[in-house]
Amino acid sequence: MIRAEGLSKSFGGVRAVQDISISVPEKSIFALIGPNGAGKSTLLNLLSGIYQPDAGSLHLESRTLIGVPAYQRVRLGIARTFQKIRLFKQLTLLENVRAGFHIHQDAPFWEYLLRGNTGRFHAEALELLDFVGLAARANQRAGALPYGQQRMLEIARALATRPRLFMLDEPAAGLNAAEMEFLLKRLEQIRDRGITVLVVEHNMDLVMNVAQRVFVMDHGVALFEGAPREVQANPRVIEAYLGGEFAA
Ligand SMILES: Nc1ncnc2c1ncn2[C@@H]1O[C@H](COP(=O)(O)OP(=O)(O)OP(=O)(O)O)[C@@H](O)[C@H]1O
Ligand SMILES: [Mg+2]
Repeated sequence: MIRAEGLSKSFGGVRAVQDISISVPEKSIFALIGPNGAGKSTLLNLLSGIYQPDAGSLHLESRTLIGVPAYQRVRLGIARTFQKIRLFKQLTLLENVRAGFHIHQDAPFWEYLLRGNTGRFHAEALELLDFVGLAARANQRAGALPYGQQRMLEIARALATRPRLFMLDEPAAGLNAAEMEFLLKRLEQIRDRGITVLVVEHNMDLVMNVAQRVFVMDHGVALFEGAPREVQANPRVIEAYLGGEFAA
């Protein structure tokens, strides 16, 4: 689905991503893990177009993404959520999800959002809110939601762009056990709808239960890639990241 070769990005002297080659298979859940500061978010920012790489190639299917800005990548089918939640906190849940649909119509963003034809995407927006368990709060302000529900709302907004590739940066951060379980089911359902999922996550229960493949980074470089079992059994991954608890 998306393929990078030799991707690199530095910030001053910090080589956040160094020579990473990665290929995410279609219609699967692919996890990206590694210790704090490993470069996971930077890699996601390179894939989604928040940053342009210093070196390397990047393709979505056969199309190069180099030089393509983030807002155009969304139109090509790439959506994402952020490690630090970025919602329109003053707007309602419904308006936040409607914002995601704006790429499917022609009016300028704010005009569409504030005055646009509310009918056109209304049913689909409500369906998405229902999918993330928030339909009952559709008309509340996003900023009033508890943290875990804000994360779910960000997922609904991203899905409103109707992505083919959906990337999530630490979606389980701050979720309680019940919310985690709900998220896990939803990620599988998103995959079952034919959307490719790339998830950065520290929660190993989630990673090892939902991912078909796991890519491990450390200090900006690729450490290992394999099936969850292989990752759990790999001595270098255990030493750099997993410790004893999740080792197979
Ligand atoms: N915009 C930036 N400017 C300067 N340095 C940055 C920037 N973004 C990331 N870095 C640095 O690049 C390295 C990788 O950071 P990154 O956020 O990609 O790691 P991460 O794997 O997502 O970590 P975490 O698990 O803590 O989210 C770190 O040393 C970080 O300080
Ligand atoms: Mg990060």
